[in-house]
Amino acid sequence: MTANPDPLELLGLAQKAAHEAGRLVRSAPIHSLAMTTKSSPTDLVSEMDRASEKLILEIILSARPDDGLIGEEGTSKPSQSGLSWLVDPIDGTANYLRGLPNYSISIAAVNEEGTIVGVVYDPTLDETFTAIHRHGAALNGNPITCSTTSLAEAIIGTGFSYSSVQRAHQAEVLITLLPAIGDIRRPGSAAVSLCWVACGRLDAFFETGLKPWDFAAGTLIALEAGADIRGAEMDRTHRDLVVASAPSITAGLCRILG
Ligand code: IPD
Repeated sequence: MTANPDPLELLGLAQKAAHEAGRLVRSAPIHSLAMTTKSSPTDLVSEMDRASEKLILEIILSARPDDGLIGEEGTSKPSQSGLSWLVDPIDGTANYLRGLPNYSISIAAVNEEGTIVGVVYDPTLDETFTAIHRHGAALNGNPITCSTTSLAEAIIGTGFSYSSVQRAHQAEVLITLLPAIGDIRRPGSAAVSLCWVACGRLDAFFETGLKPWDFAAGTLIALEAGADIRGAEMDRTHRDLVVASAPSITAGLCRILG
């Protein structure tokens, strides 16, 4: 079944959930939060990641009880409506837990055709990035577009895996890439980085090993801002590398990334 709800209503609901979760996580005394690790000693999850996911789930499912919801911290509710939500309750947990800026709440609504709406909220800058499929992207309500830079001048964001084996491969890619571009950034939230491509702060972003809740909202926002997107298919049959790039540098960047 394909769900055809009003995208504006979905967007409003996603924004409400993201803003309430943002208020919750900002209010927490981060130095006294209980923490555990997941895939590696640096892959942290705090009680606030779980509390944020629970709050988002309550807000979304009380409005749309038949929808599915998949969250980074373990929520997996099947959809009865044809529509599902992909939720990262804190993308950039390592930044958050160190009191560094640059983390986000990322929420996407998807049906069998793809992502319909995406919201990424950065509570530290009070920035809300939004997009509706085929209706453009916005930052705090104002339309945004990606850059038109050349590869030699491009500032490109990336991220690194929690697995040290994967990191060794990621480091090798940088050896070829760095001499060909302006510079590199590792912001720490894939969702925010994708939105920074959308508004031209970064000229591209790429990372291997991302999960759908990391990239679903951000890739729609970048796409709707005019960026080229590779590797963001929900079934991940294509390949493990997600790339969002300004069209002016896509060909050159993809030649290097392979
Ligand atoms: C992580 C961030 C980071 C990226 C990692 C992600 P999390 O998400 O997006 O920038 O490099 O691959 O897992 O774990 O903080 O939700």
